[in-house]
Amino acid sequence: MSSALTITENQKLNALENTIARGLKYYIEVGEALLTIREERLYRAQFNTFEDYCLTRWNMSKTHANRMIDASEVAENLTPIGVIPANEAQTRELAALPADEQRTAWQTALDTAPDGKVTAAHVREVVETLSQGKQKPKTNRAGDKYIPQGFDACQTPPEALTPLLPHLYTDWQIWECASGEGLLVEELNARGFQVIASDILTDQNFFEYVPSQWDCIVTNPPYSIKYDWIAQCYAFGKPFALLLPVETLGAKTAQEFFRDCGLEVIFLDRRINFKMPNKGWEGSAAQFPVAWFTYGLNIGQQMTFARLDEEHH
Ligand SMILES: C[S@@+](CC[C@H](N)C(=O)[O-])C[C@H]1O[C@@H](n2cnc3c(N)ncnc32)[C@H](O)[C@@H]1O
Repeated sequence: MSSALTITENQKLNALENTIARGLKYYIEVGEALLTIREERLYRAQFNTFEDYCLTRWNMSKTHANRMIDASEVAENLTPIGVIPANEAQTRELAALPADEQRTAWQTALDTAPDGKVTAAHVREVVETLSQGKQKPKTNRAGDKYIPQGFDACQTPPEALTPLLPHLYTDWQIWECASGEGLLVEELNARGFQVIASDILTDQNFFEYVPSQWDCIVTNPPYSIKYDWIAQCYAFGKPFALLLPVETLGAKTAQEFFRDCGLEVIFLDRRINFKMPNKGWEGSAAQFPVAWFTYGLNIGQQMTFARLDEEHH
């Protein structure tokens, strides 16, 4: 059978492709509708959360709903260019860029698309090319070499876990995904929890390796890549508790996740003393306060003010 299409087949293909193109371009309306429902909490008569609403009403994960919302926002940002992406997949390649860079990348993609046909793969290539040369210093993301920076290699004293423990179910498999010397793993084990430990030091990069079974992440992650870490934790959609500097609350990048996905914080009433790579336990407490940034633990209040000394036995 010849691979060339007959005239009739060509017409059929064109008609079918038009149907697909018409359907795909509705991603903008879908994203805008979801955004309004989320912002105005129009789901509230029947559902407690936006997540429940998306799942029950549309069988759509929250991640997918957020992707549709992001897509409509990207499309809106590109409106001045006059041609907007034909589908959500193309916008996804741009979503992580600041608004002005999205426009530059999109215009470049339009200008350089082979045969004038823009595909998501082409947009990705453009974004990668544009970002070369203005790369941030190397971090320990997927595929990169791990270069610890600042507090990345500090170890957490077990006492930090005390206010968190009552909020973890005892039958949960805890994943300590940046376990370092394993101090938190030891303490969790001592408190009867099953723990899976991994670390880039043992070739288990958090952005690549996921254990086959786990219920909740508990860790003090490397702070130099804390925003990527937070994003990845929310992407799993499972409970987590990350020990992070309190100042993380003030960072816009983090706030976007907290606003969209929810957050409950357990503050500690004093600074804790980390074990540092060169100094060990010597020296006074850390220069900055830390708190447990949690999701999915159902603590029941956004802020908890723990008393470390009264609670630690
Ligand atoms: C701040 S230390 C905390 C160690 C331990 N969680 C604790 O609290 O004692 C951060 C750890 O993250 C590990 N790490 C850094 N980048 C990582 C990555 N991409 N994937 C997994 N572990 C990573 C480092 O090797 C280090 O052991």
